[in-house]
Amino acid sequence: MTIKCTNKVALIGTGFVGSSYAFALLNQGIAHELVMIDLNKEKADGDARDLNHGLAFASPMKISAGDYRDCRDADLVVITAGANQAPGETRLDLVEKNVKIFKNIVDSVMESGFNGIFLVATNPVDILTYATWKFSGMPKERVIGSGTILDTARLRYLVGQHFDIDTRNIHAYIMGEHGDTEFPVWSHTTVGASQLNELIDMDKENVQKDLDDIFVNVRDAAYHIIERKGATYYGIAMGLARITKAIFNNENSILTVSALLEGEYQEQDMYIGVPAIINRDGIRKVVELPLNEKEKAQFSHSAQTLKNVMKKALE
Ligand code: LAC
Repeated sequence: MTIKCTNKVALIGTGFVGSSYAFALLNQGIAHELVMIDLNKEKADGDARDLNHGLAFASPMKISAGDYRDCRDADLVVITAGANQAPGETRLDLVEKNVKIFKNIVDSVMESGFNGIFLVATNPVDILTYATWKFSGMPKERVIGSGTILDTARLRYLVGQHFDIDTRNIHAYIMGEHGDTEFPVWSHTTVGASQLNELIDMDKENVQKDLDDIFVNVRDAAYHIIERKGATYYGIAMGLARITKAIFNNENSILTVSALLEGEYQEQDMYIGVPAIINRDGIRKVVELPLNEKEKAQFSHSAQTLKNVMKKALE
C-alpha cells in the first residue's frame, strides 16, 4: 500500500496571479507537486517548463501542465481563473461572468474525484467562494477564499511604515468583503505587544486622520496598482502561498480568509473575510473577535452588501 505523503496542488488558471502563486510555491518550497491547468494549454505548459528550469535553485518539486483529471489526487485545488478588474471596475462588477465560469470549473474538478480543499482567489472572492461551496457540495471547512488576507497584509505594512516597525511585528486585521466595504479592526491592533491605543491617542483628530489615511490606502490599493500596471498579482500570490503553507504544515495559524459564517458575527449562510484558524483540515474555526459598536456596524454593512449581490448572482 503506498502511503501518500506529498502535498499536491492543482492550480486552475495560470494568468498573472496563478503563475505568480506557482513561482511563490517553488521559491518557498511549500508543495511537493504542482499541476498547472489553463484553457490556454500552451501558456500552462510554458509556465511549467519555465519553472522547472528554476529547480536547480529550489527544493525538489514536480511541476507539470495538465488537465482536470489531475485534480483527482490533489490535496489542494487553487482557483485563480476568471475575468479580472479593468481600470475603474469594482470587484463586485465581475460577479455575473465569473459565477458562470466557476460553475464549469468546479463541476470539472469534482468530476475528477477530487476530495481535498478548495482555495479560491478569483474576485469577487467572497461570492465565488460561496459559489464553490454550493457547486461542489464540499464541507464548509474545505472551501476557503483568500478573503482579506492581502488587505490585512497591506494594513500591517502601512501601520509598520507609520511606526517604523517591521511589518511582521504588526498584528492587525481587515475584515469584511474583500472590496470597498472592508474595514480595519483598530480595536484589536497591536504594535509588538503594545495595543494601538497605548501608543497613540486614538481620540485626537490628527491621529484619527492618520489612521483613516492608512485605511483608505489599504482599501484602494488595488485600484492604484491596476491603474499603473494593469493588474495586481505578487501580493495576492504570496497571500495564497501563506494559506497553502498553513494548510500543508498543519499550522493552526490565524489568517483573515473568506470563511462560511453559521451564526458567527450574527451572520449566516455567507462567506466573508474573518480571522480563522487554518490547518491541514482547512478552516478549523472562525475566530469571533469582540468588535466595538462602530466595527459591528461596519461588519453588518459589508455583510449586507455581499448578501445583496450574492442573492442576485446565485438565484
Ligand atoms: C487585490 C486583488 C487580489 O486586492 O483583489 O489586489
